Amino acid sequence: MAQNAAPGAPQSKSIPADATVRLAQSREPDTALGRLLLPVDNSAFECGKTDGWDAACLKSHYKGQPAQWPRPVIDAGKNWKEMAPVPAVQPAANAREKAKLQLGTALFFDAGLSRKGGVSCASCHQAGNSFSDGRAQAVGEDKLMGRRRAQTLFAAPFASHLFWDGRAPSLEEQAKGSITNTFEMNNTLAAAVDHVNAQPQYRQLGRQVWGHSKLSADEMVTAISTFVRTIRPPVTVADAVIAGDAAALSDQQRLGLHLFRTKARCMNCHSGALLTDNEFHDLGLSNYGRRNQDLGRFEATRNKADLGKFRTPSLRGVSHAGPWMHNGLFADLPGLLRLYNAGMGVVGGDPQKDAYVPTKSEHIKPLNLNAAEIDALVEWLKLL
Ligand code: HEC
Ligand code: HEC
Repeated sequence: MAQNAAPGAPQSKSIPADATVRLAQSREPDTALGRLLLPVDNSAFECGKTDGWDAACLKSHYKGQPAQWPRPVIDAGKNWKEMAPVPAVQPAANAREKAKLQLGTALFFDAGLSRKGGVSCASCHQAGNSFSDGRAQAVGEDKLMGRRRAQTLFAAPFASHLFWDGRAPSLEEQAKGSITNTFEMNNTLAAAVDHVNAQPQYRQLGRQVWGHSKLSADEMVTAISTFVRTIRPPVTVADAVIAGDAAALSDQQRLGLHLFRTKARCMNCHSGALLTDNEFHDLGLSNYGRRNQDLGRFEATRNKADLGKFRTPSLRGVSHAGPWMHNGLFADLPGLLRLYNAGMGVVGGDPQKDAYVPTKSEHIKPLNLNAAEIDALVEWLKLL
């Protein structure tokens, strides 16, 4: 029960301002390490035993395609999709499309789009970091620091609402936002287009695509988005497993996969090919009423139902994407999983007295995972 709050901190009043951070960073699991190493009664789950898990049973159940595996634990009414291969990139249909992609690729890496020529899209979205940048908060031109972490870009080709708060309705709008955001490229669209139109090689590509060589802002962001739509996660062991080769897994990794789907409840939100429902949820990480408050989707919609909600990130390539969450709160995955295990962030404030207190998602619950189970989950996440 006490798992809901930081050790020693009653849920009701006077939650220390740094309770969530301390819980995330503590080396120990949420309570004494000894207790967490004790066997957990998992008999309610497939292949679960009163004192742990039956590895042989798991091996025999994880064969073939995901639809043949044990069904995931999903809350009533929650939409989800089975794990699936990542959709392939459509090859450029013709020479025009090819030139558009070539232009967009060049622009993604071109720091000339920023006001002082110091920052490109790729400065903050680096392939080796799952297209994030390894920082808790993105750093833009003039070293101005934004308040959110650069997102990985694996979900972006498939999402209908871009950014952590979903405020951009298309990749084209999102690209405009990144170019003009003070904390990112800090430029005007007109100046960025002037830079593009000053480069002969861009003008030539533009002519091949649109038949004229003076690009507009819309054409510029169309080209950039064409490149972003081709971004895919690297092929990993998880792809082999999802294609039907679960024998590629060690017993520990297979247990991690099983926990992800069942006891740990991850598939409620991280499902489908990209392991995201592309929906918005409050995990209790909005720092409501504190320094660093970020109310997420609410800041885009002003709808109280959206208070503290952030878009579920893809977990593809997640082990290379840290530090994790919209604000880079977690420097390591075991710490992140310990907080999920405890039922996630500590929300301050009294909803009876304050209508703006964010409500944590009903899909987030204490998980009762022991230390070995957390380790197994981490090993599965590393394969994604
Ligand atoms: C200074 C670092 C920085 C630069 C430069 C930058 N981004 Fe980003 N990017 C971010 C951050 C931070 C977010 C999340 C912002 C938010 O949610 O408010 C983001 C979000 C995105 C997203 C949304 C992903 C999703 O799934 O919703 C896309 C796509 C993206 N950036 C592409 C680009 C492109 C294209 C460029 C160049 C035109 C660019 N970024 C330049 C930091 C940067
Ligand atoms: C209620 C839906 C929900 C459930 C259930 C859920 N997640 Fe998440 N997950 C999210 C959202 C939303 C975020 C982003 C939250 C934020 O940044 O404030 C997130 C973020 C993450 C991240 C950080 C990714 C990144 O790029 O920063 C990891 C890793 C993660 N979840 C793993 C898991 C695992 C493992 C489980 C099961 C133990 C799980 N999640 C269960 C919705 C969920």
